[in-house]
Amino acid sequence: MTPVGFGPLRRKEDLRLVRGRGRFVDDIALPGMLHGAILRSPYAHARIVSVDTSAAESHPKVRAVLTGADLAARDMAWMPTASHDVAAVLACEKVHFQGQEVAFVVAEDRYAARDALALIEVEYEPLPAVVDARTALDPDAPLVRDEQPGCTDNHIFDWESGDAAATDAVFAAAEHVSDCDLVYPRVHPAPLETCGIVADADRIEGRLTVHATTQAPHTHRVLYSRIAGVPEHRIRVVAPDIGGGFGNKVAMYPGYLCAVVASTVTGRPVKWVEDRSENLMASSFARDYHMRGEIAATRDGRILAVRVRVLADHGAFNATSQPSRFPAGFFGVFTGSYDLRAAHCRVTGVHTNKAPGGVAYACSFRITEASYLVERLVDVLAHDLGLDPARLRMDNLLRAEQFPHPTPTGWEYDSGDYPATLRLALEIAGYDELRAEQAATRAEYERTGRGRLLGIGLSFFTEAVGAGPRRTMDIMGLGMADGADLRVHPSGGAVLAVSCMSQGQGHETTFAQIIGHELGIPADQVQVVQGDTDRTPFGLGTYGSRSTAVSGAATVVAARRVRERARLVAGAMLEIDPIDLEWVPGRWQVRGDPTAGASLTEIAAAAHSGLELPDGVEGHLDASCVYNPPNLTFPCGAYLCVVEVDPVTGEVRVRRFVAVDDCGVRINPMIVAGQVHRGLADGIGMALMELITFDPDGNHLAASFMDYLLPTSMECPSWELGETVTPSPHHPIGAKGVGESATVGSPAAVVNAVLDAIGVRHADMPLTPAQVWRAVQGRPLRP
Ligand code: CDP
Repeated sequence: MTPVGFGPLRRKEDLRLVRGRGRFVDDIALPGMLHGAILRSPYAHARIVSVDTSAAESHPKVRAVLTGADLAARDMAWMPTASHDVAAVLACEKVHFQGQEVAFVVAEDRYAARDALALIEVEYEPLPAVVDARTALDPDAPLVRDEQPGCTDNHIFDWESGDAAATDAVFAAAEHVSDCDLVYPRVHPAPLETCGIVADADRIEGRLTVHATTQAPHTHRVLYSRIAGVPEHRIRVVAPDIGGGFGNKVAMYPGYLCAVVASTVTGRPVKWVEDRSENLMASSFARDYHMRGEIAATRDGRILAVRVRVLADHGAFNATSQPSRFPAGFFGVFTGSYDLRAAHCRVTGVHTNKAPGGVAYACSFRITEASYLVERLVDVLAHDLGLDPARLRMDNLLRAEQFPHPTPTGWEYDSGDYPATLRLALEIAGYDELRAEQAATRAEYERTGRGRLLGIGLSFFTEAVGAGPRRTMDIMGLGMADGADLRVHPSGGAVLAVSCMSQGQGHETTFAQIIGHELGIPADQVQVVQGDTDRTPFGLGTYGSRSTAVSGAATVVAARRVRERARLVAGAMLEIDPIDLEWVPGRWQVRGDPTAGASLTEIAAAAHSGLELPDGVEGHLDASCVYNPPNLTFPCGAYLCVVEVDPVTGEVRVRRFVAVDDCGVRINPMIVAGQVHRGLADGIGMALMELITFDPDGNHLAASFMDYLLPTSMECPSWELGETVTPSPHHPIGAKGVGESATVGSPAAVVNAVLDAIGVRHADMPLTPAQVWRAVQGRPLRP
């Protein structure tokens, strides 16, 4: 029997996943299934003069070819984006980025579909492309969206947060101001499993069944309905096992919609699964923020204010997945973990001839960019003032007694003891000894001109996870709340259906543990159902580490409702006023008489029996909840990275990484540790090697894992983890999200460590050997 409640517990889902028995979209084979393939633009910007599909159509195995014109005839050539724009499903008049979808071929097998792509003749008239966001607003910049009436430039939006006048006043009076230009480069979530779908439009039943890689099945059902015009009750979206999402599987992609149309046209199921290059070129990218940050302080290092200007590169279509009112996501938390007098940021979004997206790659809506910015600025300040970066942080962190803390940009941080978290990280790392070792190795290097340089980098982050609340946060008009339905069987076992969707985070285990904790039953007596719109309650899904904070809270509330029903039934069983019963885990018993009581299993059996129940008690214990979070949860963490840099080759070796996370109450510390491990590896990847880049014509230069480098265990040290626990005051079990914390917090620690080693004020990510070598040599850095 598995233990009851919270604690380390092996993941239930691993029984199938580690045996290769997981069922992913590409494992699905329906009778008569056809296969789709997408013809993509070789140009970043070009007019489409003509598309001739006749040769492809006459391929013996081809069953249909769709073009932009075919979709336009169905009013489906364009689809709405989460950011109030439209994105092309299949290009009509022109292509806006290299890899854009131009035609969709459906054939008897995947190979024939791919072969037939070569038979489609497209005549393009190439246009100049705008690739660098910093030139996108130049008067002579090519217009990316000139198909839109009234388009005169590539400007998308201006958004600001904080008090500009108050911030300017603090800066004007400050003894010291440090500033820095930083780029958070375009990177990609790059999940192991790419995106895919099996669409089955049943003409007889009038039903559309979609098996798809989606982090948000219910939101996708709404979108299929809105775009394809099929009533929602006739659509079933099923997300089977998902091999990593990290934000990549939030958006609606053209391939999904083409498969739906192709299934409708052919009357047969259609599978489309993208390959690695398609995933890296055309599905949602992340980051691409050009930031100028300023930090005002006293000469002795009291941080006063932060001011930021951002140029946000949104690519060809404004398709970033942020809550509607937040065009720059939760970038407003750029104030970080510090006690500031004022702060202000202005973000300008622009179009370029690059793939759309701007997804929250393992972060809560642009928080990674914000956290990197402020944690780099603090190190720049330490560098400029000649202060120790750990001391500078410790002196400026918010104190435990300052929570709940209203930030200058309008957030209310719920809880934390930041100094305690940082202190623990410094203790685990042996900070003073590391600094002494660093001084010794540096002296040795200066004496001999040989050896490696030691660098120590810190970051302290605050994340904002668990979107809603619904009144301020929605995606495409859908308020950010989530549901949980809990059924308790006569045997006392339970089935929990949730609207969130695990992509490897272990929800089948942790959500069962939540029920176990609340009802006093072992986790293996709880089955968790997810990822099927026919079987789960409505909700916005899993991204931005919101599952525990929102669906987890819904689960707790539903379980507590079950418990209260059980109390009424127990009252009837024991012929006693329910008010006189008290809950001990797994059982209602008579207050003052522990021998008289009934276990949840007995109560569940009674609730289904012929027992006479009091008026108003219907029987069965089932309950549900729709949880609208009152606030976000604000996990935090102190990270410390130790690197060795070879100044001759620019090679960086991460020697140690200490991560102290505070995510409130931990349901399953083993799963939390796994989440943190993954995010730390992400940080090493982004800081040292990951980069989606383009040549001046907009050709994508990172369309395979030969060019888009991901970290492996070879680049990662043995992680050293610690924890502090400050429960969230508003979450029913005090838990805060953690899934993406380490991705948010770690890049700055790695970059700060490398720059600390080589004594350079700033250099942009990724700090590849070439970039580090140039920085050491004082040569111009990669722009
Ligand atoms: O939304 P997502 O699942 O990506 O992120 P999360 O809610 O932070 O949860 C990631 C995993 O860690 C889930 O299995 C959670 O239930 C678990 N977790 C936990 O055990 N304790 C916490 N305080 C937070 C998350």
